[in-house]
Amino acid sequence: MREFNGKTAVITGGASGIGHGLASRLAQAGMNLVIADIEHSALESAVEGFEADGVSVLGVPTDVADNDSVKALAGAADERFGDVHVLFNNAGVAGGGPILEPDDIGVWDWVLGVDLLGVIYGIKAFGPAMVAHGEPCAIVNTASMAGLLPTPSLGAYTVAKYGVVAVSEVLSLETRETTNLRVSVLCPGFVHTRIADSDRNIPEHLVSLEEPTVEGELRREAVRDLVASGMAPGEVAQKVFEAIVDERFYVLPHPQFGEQIVARAQQIAAGGSVAPWEI
Ligand code: NAI
Repeated sequence: MREFNGKTAVITGGASGIGHGLASRLAQAGMNLVIADIEHSALESAVEGFEADGVSVLGVPTDVADNDSVKALAGAADERFGDVHVLFNNAGVAGGGPILEPDDIGVWDWVLGVDLLGVIYGIKAFGPAMVAHGEPCAIVNTASMAGLLPTPSLGAYTVAKYGVVAVSEVLSLETRETTNLRVSVLCPGFVHTRIADSDRNIPEHLVSLEEPTVEGELRREAVRDLVASGMAPGEVAQKVFEAIVDERFYVLPHPQFGEQIVARAQQIAAGGSVAPWEI
């Protein structure tokens, strides 16, 4: 995809972090923006910021884990700007702990709902119309390096992100030869965003499940430090933008983990044992 000026991008989780970074990059390329986010105050200030820069922008409060909410987002985008050319299914949360942790199934519902079903709802709400309008267009889904390498103590997140890689791979195979739609999957290592504070958006009825244990707090602090030392969201956004232009499927902003991906594939082919993502 090479023409961006005057076309429209929809970005879920666009009020913060990587989503906000790609929104800024696409606005720089002349696109209209539809920013979808569950966090109303952050959404308002993101929209105000883009408006102050003269960008045509619509903010739509959205819960990507709710199929009706994502369908309403598609309706709002169509009503305001018409055809959509870039969809960034990016909203995500990190939560939960080891798989044998008892009584945390609500956290699995939350993480799989936002991180995996949210992507699927987005594809289904926007994809058919993007193919139908026939112009070059792109769907980018945010997975993670945790979608390519297993990450202990982040069970639900890892399962969701493997799922995002899988749905992206199948969608790409189903569309790339026969349609105007190109698909990419983003698998970053650590990026300096608010992901370690995901529970700011946890549904009310699950708050008690995220109450900190000592082990949970230690894990969270470790993740917070890694995230704080991570890549700048703008740098990730530039790599995603280049992948859209070049129509590349796998977008791995942290190439230092490539060898571990190769080693994993070799272990699978050899019927060997599993090794964790070494951060
Ligand atoms: P962030 O917390 O800064 O941004 C996530 C955005 O998603 C926030 O604006 C949040 O309000 C929104 N959101 C959360 N739940 C939502 C829901 N139910 N509906 C709509 N919006 C919702 O974090 P970041 O890092 O920018 O996250 C973006 C994506 O990047 C996520 O999918 C995350 O899993 C992924 N990722 C992040 C990495 C990192 O190190 N920061 C590494 C690998 C992947």
